[in-house]
Amino acid sequence: MADLGVNIDHVATLRQARMGNEPEPNFATTIAEQNGADQITVHLREDRRHIQEKDVRILRDIICTRLNLEMAVTEKMVKFARNVKPDTVTFVPEKRQELTTEGGLILQENFAETIELFKEIDIEVSVFIEPRLSTIEMAKKIGADAVEIHTGKYANLKDRRAIQEEINKIEEAAILIKRLGMRVVAGHGLNYYNVKKLVNLNKIEEFNIGHSIISRAVFVGLADAVKTMKDLIT
Ligand code: PXP
Repeated sequence: MADLGVNIDHVATLRQARMGNEPEPNFATTIAEQNGADQITVHLREDRRHIQEKDVRILRDIICTRLNLEMAVTEKMVKFARNVKPDTVTFVPEKRQELTTEGGLILQENFAETIELFKEIDIEVSVFIEPRLSTIEMAKKIGADAVEIHTGKYANLKDRRAIQEEINKIEEAAILIKRLGMRVVAGHGLNYYNVKKLVNLNKIEEFNIGHSIISRAVFVGLADAVKTMKDLIT
């Protein structure tokens, strides 16, 4: 049975469209938790296009499950995250012009020092990378506790054979992550139609899903949208 991390960034995207007070992303936290979310995920981007620092601080105070903060590996973000103390930080790449996180993080040996800064205050570190075996070995080498496999390529493919090849890559990646003693996480571009094939691998311990859940919530409400996704992944 896999855990569901609900990414609430796009509730904040809607609020920021008018720079006002609604919809309040942290109302989404409570509804998501009451309907099966095991974790709330937010990405505090450098351009602050959706989630703001105050949202993360409020979230830290009110959350009943676990807080996963996605962050670029910058001095400012490390300082902020060490201060807020999420349960997990996920290192992600960040480019200003991108619509969403494109591609996995290129790991560097000197991330090991940053990872240690989190581990010494009991914060789990996950790295968001492509399903590539050499990168997973590097994740282990620099001390990551978890690996989030970037499923964006899988989600965007149309050709059946290519989809199956990508699933095979994800499965191989998951096996190696587990064998190296790290937690197996997956996310990006997953929705109500493509998630099941990855659930059926029975190797992914947590899924982080945002856009498809918030999109469905526009029509059926967030409670229903989260519950339906939770049923699909368990
Ligand atoms: N996991 C990571 C590391 C991400 O950066 C994102 C996008 O913010 C997600 C999961 C969720 O992706 P989506 O919104 O496409 O479900």
